[in-house]
Amino acid sequence: MVVWLVGGIMADVPSHAFASDNAAPAHPAVIDAIVAANNGSVASYGNDPATQRAAEAVKTTFDSPDAEVLFALTGTAANVIALASAVRPWQEILCSDIAHSLVDEAGGPVRLSGAPVTKLRSDNGLIDPAVLDIEVARRGPVHHSQPRIVTITQSTENGRVWTPQAIKDFIDHAHDLDLLVHVDGSRIGNAVAALDISAPDAIADADIVTVGGTKNGMLMGDAILVRRPKSFDGIHFVQKQIGHLASKQRFIAAQFEAMLHDGLWLRTATHANRMATRLSAGFQALGLTLTSPTEANEVFVDLEPAAYAAVSAGYAVHRPDPLLPAVRFVCSWVTTEDEVDGVLELLAPFST
Ligand SMILES: Cc1ncc(COP(=O)(O)O)c(C=O)c1O
Repeated sequence: MVVWLVGGIMADVPSHAFASDNAAPAHPAVIDAIVAANNGSVASYGNDPATQRAAEAVKTTFDSPDAEVLFALTGTAANVIALASAVRPWQEILCSDIAHSLVDEAGGPVRLSGAPVTKLRSDNGLIDPAVLDIEVARRGPVHHSQPRIVTITQSTENGRVWTPQAIKDFIDHAHDLDLLVHVDGSRIGNAVAALDISAPDAIADADIVTVGGTKNGMLMGDAILVRRPKSFDGIHFVQKQIGHLASKQRFIAAQFEAMLHDGLWLRTATHANRMATRLSAGFQALGLTLTSPTEANEVFVDLEPAAYAAVSAGYAVHRPDPLLPAVRFVCSWVTTEDEVDGVLELLAPFST
């Protein structure tokens, strides 16, 4: 519990340490980079040197020399721009049953593309490649939407990671079926850090990737790595249409430069993952049930109503489905061991 001064009155406000990695502040190196970029007049709408350098840094990080890089202010926008530029209205976007693009973007991909988003069954966001065979079997007749792109999330919305082999197999199979693949990498840093692999191995042969910045320690901004530009014809126009071509793009670019410099993006992710591991181990020591394996920076645990009420008194936490007992705890680059232990203390009376 944190005591804040609200309008001159002391008020008890639950800590937001586990509400979301969006609740975390920006890393000081990011703020320093913004301040350094705040110098003189430069070309607008991404025609500035910082944008050029940041785009190169993203391409180098993901070993994608022929890619194009765009920047957006939010992860939702990056996903919508990527998906909407891949399809025509009679085509179809496939995703997991828990995909952010499906359940948390207010129908943005559908509105912007005119194409339906179809959910595939998954194991906490990990999809069996064989599921794609069933979907593409409906191709052909004029009566059906035509599957064109599948989006997967690394790390997934339920905190799982695609191993390098699993993501390679999935994407290769999707390509065999003439499907494009988008990776929602809003938490790609957490996956790379958790698996201790190279960034390219975390996305395999994906055609287009949302590269998360905000959750990783930036003030705001996510990138879109377009590795097969010909398949996303018009993407720059989609970005402009929905208002995500920032006129002062140097300030988003400067943040990416700072995060990708000297591995900062992996240090912030590693810390967040380590806190999640500690929390997860603590839950298990209390005999609580995880609803998804903890593999990155998110922990999902079943809490009975009294336990949920007890933890909510100290920490704002999210219940993805109000009808289910699973509660989500997200760790960020600023989560502390004391905060983790604070949660475990509140839940100690509910030990089984
Ligand atoms: C997996 C995933 N993708 C995309 C987003 C979208 O990010 P934003 O909130 O910046 O639009 C989120 C945000 O929570 C997310 O969890």
